[in-house]
Amino acid sequence: MSSVQVPILEARDLTKQYVVGDHAVEALRGVSLSVAPGEFVAFMGPSGSGKSTLLQILGGLDRPTSGHVVLEGRDISGLTDTEATRLRRESTGFVFQFFNLIPLLDVRENVGLPFTIAGTDPTRGELRDRVQAAIDAVDLTGKERNRPDQLSAGEQQRVAVARALVTRPALVLADEPTGNLDFATGTEVLEVLLRSCHEQGQTIVLVTHDAKAAAYADRVFVFVDGRVGDEIVLGRRAEHSATPLIARLAQLGL
Ligand SMILES: Nc1ncnc2c1ncn2[C@@H]1O[C@H](COP(=O)(O)OP(=O)(O)O)[C@@H](O)[C@H]1O
Ligand SMILES: [Mg+2]
Repeated sequence: MSSVQVPILEARDLTKQYVVGDHAVEALRGVSLSVAPGEFVAFMGPSGSGKSTLLQILGGLDRPTSGHVVLEGRDISGLTDTEATRLRRESTGFVFQFFNLIPLLDVRENVGLPFTIAGTDPTRGELRDRVQAAIDAVDLTGKERNRPDQLSAGEQQRVAVARALVTRPALVLADEPTGNLDFATGTEVLEVLLRSCHEQGQTIVLVTHDAKAAAYADRVFVFVDGRVGDEIVLGRRAEHSATPLIARLAQLGL
């Protein structure tokens, strides 16, 4: 690895203010951070500390009040809606807490959806192969024709992960992807994300309140009240016990 690595993603002094009626909420109060290509980072912090707001801004789903987001060397803060939509499609994949699958579509069709939305046919040629490879990568081989209601919750979330990975985006952003799963199925989802990171070099940003999930990351940013309070470097390792992270969080009084 070279000693100077160009970040794939940078947040530069981001602020976000929400105005509701005559009341303003400072959701982000000056967040700066950078993520290296192929890195797995986690955002932790209490409810309301700005994690989801930041993730949406990093993925071009929302705009900051001030500051900049630089993705693959490109400042995306000032994009038009059309440009932002295109960037989202081409460079980011999202995984949400509540899977967001289309009930009437089977696994193959749900995973191929980003291609369908982009106006290409996911049932033919190279795209068909990529859809199958994404299904195989999340261990759903053989379930291609199942609809979401014919899958367990963990399997449904793995379909959502496959859909996020299928376009081979620069960045996968996951907001509490295990928040609706029990420990065992949550672990399956984390293992799939981890594998895409370690084996394919996929860059991942994971929002979670669960130290066991955050322990999969190389680095953990701890948010407090719209700011990065602390950064905990775990490093790349073969096992993902949460014990060292929990000890560090305890030292910080969290
Ligand atoms: N669309 C919105 N409109 C108004 N306030 C919002 C909106 N989204 C988030 N907030 C507020 O911004 C703050 C940060 O929220 P959020 O980013 O969802 O935090 P987290 O994901 O860490 O729980 C909270 O005070 C929340 O109520
Ligand atoms: Mg949130």
